[in-house]
Amino acid sequence: MALKPYSVNYPAFLMYFLFLLVFAGCKHEPEEIVITDPVIPIDTIPDTGITCNPDTAYFQNDVLPLLISGCGMSGCHDAATAQEGVVLTSYQSVMNTGGIIPGNPNGSELYEKITDNEPDDRMPPPPMAALTTDELLLIRKWIEQGAKNNYCDAGCDTNSFAFSTSIQPLINTNCKGCHNATLSSGGIRLDNYASVKSVADNGRLFGAISHQQGYAAMPQGAARLPECNIIQVKKWIAAGAPDN
Ligand code: HEC
Repeated sequence: MALKPYSVNYPAFLMYFLFLLVFAGCKHEPEEIVITDPVIPIDTIPDTGITCNPDTAYFQNDVLPLLISGCGMSGCHDAATAQEGVVLTSYQSVMNTGGIIPGNPNGSELYEKITDNEPDDRMPPPPMAALTTDELLLIRKWIEQGAKNNYCDAGCDTNSFAFSTSIQPLINTNCKGCHNATLSSGGIRLDNYASVKSVADNGRLFGAISHQQGYAAMPQGAARLPECNIIQVKKWIAAGAPDN
């Protein structure tokens, strides 16, 4: 039998490559980040109790969940990793380290990064998907409207819990950035109905969002979801987690 000069362990090689992709994925070329902290007056008190205005982008409702799940994961821009000093897990940290210039999205470092046409410079970096056009417009609008720490009462209704109109939008905003094909944290994907359904059926979805003992509390690194949303998920699961 002829001896092969060497043999390649393809599965191990592939795993190593994937590992590199995932862990190198959050790094990019060092670039100056404008620290805006001393310059920008920070409104730290959320405007609570306001009914959501469809023409307004709200930081706490819309922007922060996207930043946490799209950028604030471990290894990237959570407080522990803070790649390039940028932490995107709270209003304070976004304003202190994201180079946000209220009223001027194009001059804001964060907005520049998420809209960069160069894949090597874009955040989140490939192989992670770019934010969607709607998500980019939302962040743009929030900066244009003064980058306030605002919050509104979305009028969540516990009697509405269809997958397409309640559950999926909730998961897209709060969870998808950490649970998708490229980054399936904890081995879990939540980027399509079938994957959400399987996590609903095995009890982990509800265990995680209701912070039950024995489950990792989700969304990771963020506040617990509003009670109304947790009830919507509970009712949807109790109804058999339908694709409705
Ligand atoms: C910032 C990243 C991040 C966000 C945002 C996030 N997750 Fe996770 N999730 C993780 C990580 C990391 C793990 C693995 C944690 C562990 O095993 O300790 C995980 C694990 C889980 C698990 C398994 C829990 C268990 O103990 O079995 C579920 C279910 C889950 N996430 C659902 C969600 C849902 C639903 C949301 C949105 C409401 C969400 N996640 C948002 C990072 C995230």
